[in-house]
Amino acid sequence: MSDLKSGLGEAVGAAFAGLGLAPELGRVTVSDRPDLADFQCNGALAAAKALKRNPREIAQAVADSLASNPSIAEVGVAGPGFINLRVSAAALAERANTLSNDPRAGAAEVAAPRRVLVDYAGPNVAKEMHVGHLRASIIGEAIKRIYRFRGDEVLGDAHFGDWGFQMGLLLTACADTDPAIEALLSRLEVRPVGFSQSDEDAVDAELDTRIALEDLDRLYPAAAAQAKVDPDYRDRARRATAELQAGRFGHRLVWRHFARITRVALERDFHALGIDFDLWRGESDVDDLIGPMVEELQEKGLLVDDQGARIIRVAREADRREVPPLLVVSSEGSAMYGTTDLATILDRRRFFDPDLVLYVVDQRQADHFETVFRAACLAGYAREGELEHIGFGTMNGPDGKPFKTREGGVLKLRDLIDMARGKASERLLEAGLGAELEPEAFEDTALKVGVATLKFADLINFRGTSYVFDLERFSSFEGKTGPYLLYQAVRVKSLLRKAQSDGVAAGPIVVGEDAERELILLLDGFDHALAEAYDKRSPNLVADHAFRLAQGFSRFYAACPVLVADTKELRASRLSLAQLSLRQLELCLDLLGLAAPDRM
Ligand code: ARG
Repeated sequence: MSDLKSGLGEAVGAAFAGLGLAPELGRVTVSDRPDLADFQCNGALAAAKALKRNPREIAQAVADSLASNPSIAEVGVAGPGFINLRVSAAALAERANTLSNDPRAGAAEVAAPRRVLVDYAGPNVAKEMHVGHLRASIIGEAIKRIYRFRGDEVLGDAHFGDWGFQMGLLLTACADTDPAIEALLSRLEVRPVGFSQSDEDAVDAELDTRIALEDLDRLYPAAAAQAKVDPDYRDRARRATAELQAGRFGHRLVWRHFARITRVALERDFHALGIDFDLWRGESDVDDLIGPMVEELQEKGLLVDDQGARIIRVAREADRREVPPLLVVSSEGSAMYGTTDLATILDRRRFFDPDLVLYVVDQRQADHFETVFRAACLAGYAREGELEHIGFGTMNGPDGKPFKTREGGVLKLRDLIDMARGKASERLLEAGLGAELEPEAFEDTALKVGVATLKFADLINFRGTSYVFDLERFSSFEGKTGPYLLYQAVRVKSLLRKAQSDGVAAGPIVVGEDAERELILLLDGFDHALAEAYDKRSPNLVADHAFRLAQGFSRFYAACPVLVADTKELRASRLSLAQLSLRQLELCLDLLGLAAPDRM
């Protein structure tokens, strides 16, 4: 099923071919002057240049041969030789009816599905998620959904940060504040004989009473700060990291407790945000691959000694900036951030064999990924182009720096969600919405609107751009906002309910009013927007399509009465258009990880 744009492109291409010119010249684009045309083709300009002929003459000849095409209502030549096209009402109606019968509302699937792994969110044990993680979660979730919807086999992995230096810092900090933990760490070198699962559970229950997430939140930043200024402390933390990684039993028990309590809280927040991982693998999950991997890298001659540490050099002569080497084993013998990343590439190869891995991570880690990817290719763990870093800019505060709380701390994700939900309920009440909802349904709606506020504000920007967090603007029911989109979807839903109770039935779509034409042209653009979002790994193109569709629907609804249209046929046609618009809008919302409530 091809969209109007490619259908017209083919017809115009055939017209060029009829003049002995290349059919590729017939490519059409959506007109930037909708008052003059629906689509335009600039091919005559390119052809004229190559042939040294008058572009208007070529354009006119193409236009003449298109004049009798039933899909085209008007064709004309404008300016230096643009071909302007207006689609016929019959062709618009036919396209609208095809879309209306398609559960995917026009979205095609890729011809050759691939296996794609999306590595996103990347939360860490005990370290609070910062806005970088928020963006990674939101953008990664959307990319995952877009890829899956286009037909790829997709897995999303949280890549939990549970194995680095921060673990040693935390172990050290906890041991220093709690003698019982200190004892556990120093005493239990190996698993005692006969130590059963229930013994382990008992230790965990005991740890529950000693260390809660709030303690980790408090201890971690203090420990990180101390390590910066105190070399002894830093050495102890490094040793603790190495001992944990070497499998010291007490260290493992305490570490597992950290990971568990962090994960419970994280999953609750992700759930509230509509973010679901297929895999929750951690850096620690590849621990047993690291030893053999290091040996293999050694055998391949890739490891170089560097002041007691072992690194892989990845710099190339042609580099225009310095690409740092990969630190594989630290001088204490610990695996580093890049080491687990490299081993994870091997691991994923084994259990999924992906054709493409997308790492949705803060742009500030671009060098890290360049290094890891090069090392992976050198080691033969990945082919060139299979690993891709999908970077993004930061969410900034009014000062233009990465967003912080008023006290200057990292904003907790939970607090951010609460803030957005609170703002949403305020706005709903202000707008006189949700008044007839039960308290529970109101809360649910406020959460949906709050989440849409945060996510849409992020997704509407091209991911590479940084943006300033402005809850006041993002939460408005007007403008390019999540609440606006949800509100429009809810309006269509209530129209459809009313149609049902009035006994109005949907039927074939016919095209008369400008607002109907415009809406159908927008609906027709869905596949193109989706394909571009997919190719460019840019969910903002879906967000933008959703916004324009919602606007187009709103204009249609204002100009074209649905339930009280003059004839039964017209009512049926407009109802079909409304149903189709809602289906496409909800597909877009779902791809962005948003959900519209039934009522507001
Ligand atoms: N945990 C990391 C961080 O907070 C992000 C992980 C990104 N994914 C990866 N494969 N390295 O910076």
